[in-house]
Amino acid sequence: MASRVFGIDFGTSSIKIYKKNEGVIFDEKNLIAIFNGQPVAIGNEAFNMLGKAPDNYTITYPVKNGVIADIKNMLLLLNEAFAKIEKKYGKITGSEIIVATPTDITEVEQRAYFDLASNCIAKPKKVRIVQKPVACAIGTGIEIMNASGAMVVDIGANTTEISIMSIGGIVSSKLVPVGGNNFDEAIINNVRKKYNLIIGNATAEFLKKELAFAMEPEHLTAKIFGKDVISGLPIDMEIDSEFVTETITESLHSLVDNVKSLLEKVSPELSADIIDSGVFISGGSAKIRKLDKLFHQETELDIHICDDPSDNVVNGLGIIIEEGGRYSSIAFAANQIAHIG
Ligand SMILES: Nc1ncnc2c1ncn2[C@@H]1O[C@H](COP(=O)(O)OP(=O)(O)OP(=O)(O)O)[C@@H](O)[C@H]1O
Ligand SMILES: [Mg+2]
Repeated sequence: MASRVFGIDFGTSSIKIYKKNEGVIFDEKNLIAIFNGQPVAIGNEAFNMLGKAPDNYTITYPVKNGVIADIKNMLLLLNEAFAKIEKKYGKITGSEIIVATPTDITEVEQRAYFDLASNCIAKPKKVRIVQKPVACAIGTGIEIMNASGAMVVDIGANTTEISIMSIGGIVSSKLVPVGGNNFDEAIINNVRKKYNLIIGNATAEFLKKELAFAMEPEHLTAKIFGKDVISGLPIDMEIDSEFVTETITESLHSLVDNVKSLLEKVSPELSADIIDSGVFISGGSAKIRKLDKLFHQETELDIHICDDPSDNVVNGLGIIIEEGGRYSSIAFAANQIAHIG
């Protein structure tokens, strides 16, 4: 492995970069602001411009539903991120880059990740691909080279990747287009319906983080500001956890149903392993309170919510990078992409 190695998790909501011997050195919103065809801000700085920038600014997320939807802007964003990294950590060229990619996507979508990393300003000597569920499992602390099977559920911003792993590989995987953003959208719609109040994404996400429970909400309240549907004037309102919890129930249950249907397809041997080891839940949305209780009630399996769930994938890339040899069989070169999944 090269002396400079970077691991990248291109998430729908955030981009995270690991550097060998340094740790996670970049963790910002995966967002770019463009003016006159040029990037004016990326990451958290671009996020702070949302809803405030003039009309001739384009502020956009290049990753949609877990895959790179806008390669041009993703490359601009990645180059800006690497320029920042170079300023802070020194030389970036001649490195090796390991990219985490979803499993249940097309070969063309897989290749976009490889091309991006190959063409960025870090000019890597080598680019390798690791399947996200594999990185996630390693980041979770699962001994994935073991023969015993394990189930990992990564609930991100726009996607949930449900995977069953055994002997260092993925036996079965499903990318479901439901994640934290769907909870936010449901909150925006229901606040409008029930309270005649228009709120934005940031307020919806705030309500979710403050008040959402997966089941049996404890009574909590939060004050928010929005615009009255009829008068258009700004008003404040108190919202409670019972309302937010009920609002996200449908999306949450669709995730539970997807987990159950993947479990139903598993071989008896692997089922026995999963009964033994339980289900590991990661991703930023794993932080919803009592999520473990809901999944346990519905599957009767032991549920483990990972520590630091937002960072499991990038932490897994970090472990693969630092412990190179041990995991050499699970990072693929480009010409093996066709064989993934
Ligand atoms: N405390 C919290 N409670 C509930 N949801 C949270 C909390 N903290 C973060 N989230 C949600 O987690 C999501 C982001 O998770 P994560 O960083 O795993 O996504 P991502 O990797 O960028 O997206 P994806 O994996 O879908 O491509 C967002 O929807 C965010 O609102
Ligand atoms: Mg993710």
